[in-house]
Amino acid sequence: MTAPHSVAHPRPLTPDPLLRVTDLRKYFPVGTGLFGRGGSSVKAVDGVSFDVLPGETLGLVGESGCGKSTTGRAILRLIEPTSGSVTFAGQSVLDLGSTALRQLRRQMQIIFQDPFSSLNPRMSVGAIVREGLTIHRLAEGAEADKRVKQLLQEVGLRPEYSNRYPHEFSGGQRQRIGIARALAVEPKFIVCDEPVSALDVSVQAQVVNLLQDLQRDRGLAYLFIAHDLSVVEHIADRVAVMYLGKVVELATREDLYREPLMPYTQALLSAVPVPNPAARRDRIVLTGDVPSPSNPPSGCVFHPRCHHPAKDEACARIVPPLEEKAPGHLVACIKQAPTTVTWEQQQAAGATRPPERYLPLAALHA
Ligand SMILES: Nc1ncnc2c1ncn2[C@@H]1O[C@H](COP(=O)(O)OP(=O)(O)OP(=O)(O)O)[C@@H](O)[C@H]1O
Ligand code: SF4
Ligand SMILES: [Mg+2]
Repeated sequence: MTAPHSVAHPRPLTPDPLLRVTDLRKYFPVGTGLFGRGGSSVKAVDGVSFDVLPGETLGLVGESGCGKSTTGRAILRLIEPTSGSVTFAGQSVLDLGSTALRQLRRQMQIIFQDPFSSLNPRMSVGAIVREGLTIHRLAEGAEADKRVKQLLQEVGLRPEYSNRYPHEFSGGQRQRIGIARALAVEPKFIVCDEPVSALDVSVQAQVVNLLQDLQRDRGLAYLFIAHDLSVVEHIADRVAVMYLGKVVELATREDLYREPLMPYTQALLSAVPVPNPAARRDRIVLTGDVPSPSNPPSGCVFHPRCHHPAKDEACARIVPPLEEKAPGHLVACIKQAPTTVTWEQQQAAGATRPPERYLPLAALHA
């Protein structure tokens, strides 16, 4: 019998994903009547699918309330998803019992946006960082003390800070403590939920650089959540854009910034400031507010605000599939050519304008 480990396999072109999220949904019940009946729900996450490869950073971007944090938390089961599947390193996360889930949490960690509320004010920095070591029985006694000091050093803090308390530190330093806490259990994957949004601009780059150094040294994969496309431009390998609970575009960083195809992404990118004032872009102004996720628009959820010249009746009737418009470049728009939604299907839904390739160049490449 041949030992399976001795068989030489050709190296696959793309590695197996570390994390696979498929059709994830989280609906929060709201306004429930007596006995929980008769209420509606907030469709915070509504059919989200993506992969994260080992060692990769996937940026997750979109306006406030579009479901980014809920996606990150549902993956880790910090909140229970309504439906869908999450596979991490071959394990089905949503099927795990509490013991197996606790073990898996060692490999999947989270860094929160607010470094002020995410650290227990009554615990010393050393105790905060040490907690994971104890829970997962990774080290105890003097060995744990040594690991805590190493971790503090690794995130750019002095080892003697372990006796101090969170209120003694600045926002940037607290975020470093949060990073040390996440790293203590030697995870493979970290959800970074807007880790720099609450920090001064001058400190943001330092924390982003730290996360990048740690990724390189430890082979970490990140789901990096941000409001702003300019933040993920420097850290993400690929970027997923969310709107009203759905991923509407997903592409490599290069493709997304060079040729954004979903009209919503085009509008977001046109609003990113460019350093050279002479190269000022024409901003695509999004009209109207983001609709409520408890009552999302029919068809394409972006249709009330969309500027695509081929937008028509069919956009309000057909839910656009997230489909490949170019290799590895996924877009949810039935009017951005090519599309698998045929012209006959579109006409049957009231279409009058055929799909076309629309890139508002003045807004994006001025
Ligand atoms: N526990 C909850 N109960 C009811 N609705 C919720 C709950 N948590 C989140 N929501 C709603 O779900 C939607 C998505 O929220 P989420 O926090 O995931 O958005 P986000 O993209 O992270 O926003 P932000 O950029 O402001 O952090 C919002 O409409 C929010 O009000
Ligand atoms: S499907 Fe229609 S409304 Fe939606 S983004 Fe495309 S053109 Fe705009
Ligand atoms: Mg959030």
